[in-house]
Amino acid sequence: MATFVVLMGGPGAGKGTQAKRLERELGIPQIATGDLFRENLQNNTELGQTARKYMDAGELVPDEVTIGMVRQRLSGEGRSQGAIFDGFPRTCPQAEALEALLAEWGEKLAVVLYINVRRDVLLQRLAGRWTCPICGRVYHVLFNPPKEAGVCDVDGGKLFQRADDTEETQRRRIDVYFEQTAPVLDYYREQGMLVEIDGEQSIEEVTESLVAAIRDAT
Ligand code: AP5
Repeated sequence: MATFVVLMGGPGAGKGTQAKRLERELGIPQIATGDLFRENLQNNTELGQTARKYMDAGELVPDEVTIGMVRQRLSGEGRSQGAIFDGFPRTCPQAEALEALLAEWGEKLAVVLYINVRRDVLLQRLAGRWTCPICGRVYHVLFNPPKEAGVCDVDGGKLFQRADDTEETQRRRIDVYFEQTAPVLDYYREQGMLVEIDGEQSIEEVTESLVAAIRDAT
């Protein structure tokens, strides 16, 4: 059976940073709904156009659009190596849909990992974030700087700041997270599937805690 893991945490908690490290460490591919929406935006697809107005406002994209996109990503060979879900599910209907999708294919979630970071730290992290357009690796001007300013260590990509990283949108995304995604934590907590990780440790320590929790669960 393939391993399916959910990574939860507020905007800036380190989900993307950690999903990429877990992908390298454990060989389980990252499925990040935010990245899938951004790819669609870049390719100017209808899905991208639908998602844009929600993303720019810091609101959630409607469930049916998000669930349909994840179903498509997982169909066929897309699920054979399992998945680290980054930023999905974000609502209880999405959590129920994921459970049903996996059950359809005789699979289930191994564990849900909650990277817990306080609101003021989330804001500090989002304010200094830079991303590589080629490999998606994420840097921070203070906490995780590239060797050469503005350039990706791995492939030399010219780092950029995300369109939804304006101060106003960052604050709205954090509010939306605490209002609409916190109930998903309770949903998984009640099922005994939630493991909480201190997300204010160093990047390396967070990875170690996550790897240990995944190994315990599988
Ligand atoms: P999405 O792309 O998922 O964004 P997000 O949840 O707001 O999360 P981020 O990507 O901003 O943060 P992260 O936790 O990945 O942190 P990172 O690793 O970058 O979603 C964007 C939008 O798409 C949503 O607003 C919504 O509109 C839509 N969407 C996506 N999924 C959806 C869904 N399921 N349903 C509906 N709509 C959806 O780290 C942040 C910074 O901190 C970096 O600079 C990093 O270097 C630094 N850092 C990381 N870890 C540490 C550490 N331990 N110590 C110090 N610095 C650290």
